[in-house]
Amino acid sequence: MKTLIITGCNGQLGRAINKELEGSSEYKLVNTDVEELDITDVNAVLAFVREHKPYAILNCAAYTAVEACETERDLAYKINAVGPRNLSLAAAETGAKLVQVSTDYVFAGDGDHPYEEFDLTYPQGVYGASKLAGENYVKEFADRYFIIRTAWLYGEGKNFVRTMLRLSETNDKVRVVNDQFGCPTSAKELAKAILYLLPTDNYGLFHGTCEGSCSWADFASEIFRLAGKSTVVEGISTEEYGAKVKRPAYSVLDNYMFRLTTDFQFAHWKDALREYMEETV
Ligand SMILES: NC(=O)c1ccc[n+]([C@@H]2O[C@H](COP(=O)([O-])OP(=O)(O)OC[C@H]3O[C@@H](n4cnc5c(N)ncnc54)[C@H](OP(=O)(O)O)[C@@H]3O)[C@@H](O)[C@H]2O)c1
Repeated sequence: MKTLIITGCNGQLGRAINKELEGSSEYKLVNTDVEELDITDVNAVLAFVREHKPYAILNCAAYTAVEACETERDLAYKINAVGPRNLSLAAAETGAKLVQVSTDYVFAGDGDHPYEEFDLTYPQGVYGASKLAGENYVKEFADRYFIIRTAWLYGEGKNFVRTMLRLSETNDKVRVVNDQFGCPTSAKELAKAILYLLPTDNYGLFHGTCEGSCSWADFASEIFRLAGKSTVVEGISTEEYGAKVKRPAYSVLDNYMFRLTTDFQFAHWKDALREYMEETV
């Protein structure tokens, strides 16, 4: 059996990978979260990876709280940049493949067409900048890697779908931003895409999101429709919402490299959302 080290196994993606590989006869999972393996500690990472000699390391660990990254800058860079650097060093030394997950927030978000892997990055906040630094470390130090940028992720854990459903229990109306556009992506679809790439030599940078795109307000409306809720979505502007952190207005990703080099097909975001709600909500 091939050993896979999963970091951040308790997060949304870590859990989805575990679910996809339940009962696998091909892979043996070594699940770790910060208590077992703190990815910011280079010596701990090197020792752990040397001990397990994995086929691959799947880095599902990250500091994903976008607003908190602004005030916890050092921690954001430690987890999102130094962590992937450490894993890259360990992967290169032991001959393991490395999967690094990144974000649509590496882009400025002022365009009007979906971003390809070859478009210029220009992060607007610490979260995006620290994740981009992580990508760069992987490119610099790992030999055989897949970097997959995803967006608007939801799975088992705290996420937009759950927040909307919670709000709908006590509110007839919710105010949701309608001028930011992206690709809601289920952790399950992302896990499937990662496991598709993993055994291949098709290395490099990929955009990996569900097909189609929408605003946060459209996303909320679809959640309520599928849940049979009559909660009304009032679309508001980013300015009205008054978030502390600048987020990309248009961060739709085009899965260009998946299309160009594989026959993997992501589900449409509405289909993936329906499946998620049927399975977990
Ligand atoms: N969520 C999104 O909307 C979104 C969008 C685009 C890209 N992404 C990317 O997709 C990937 C998966 O995101 P996700 O939503 O599954 O993340 P998540 O649910 O926030 O899970 C991240 C996990 O990493 C753990 N962790 C934090 N610091 C660590 C450390 N130093 N060492 C080891 N583990 C540590 C966290 O533990 P604690 O909970 O204890 O901190 C948590 O279990 C990330 O790379 C993220 O940047 C996410």
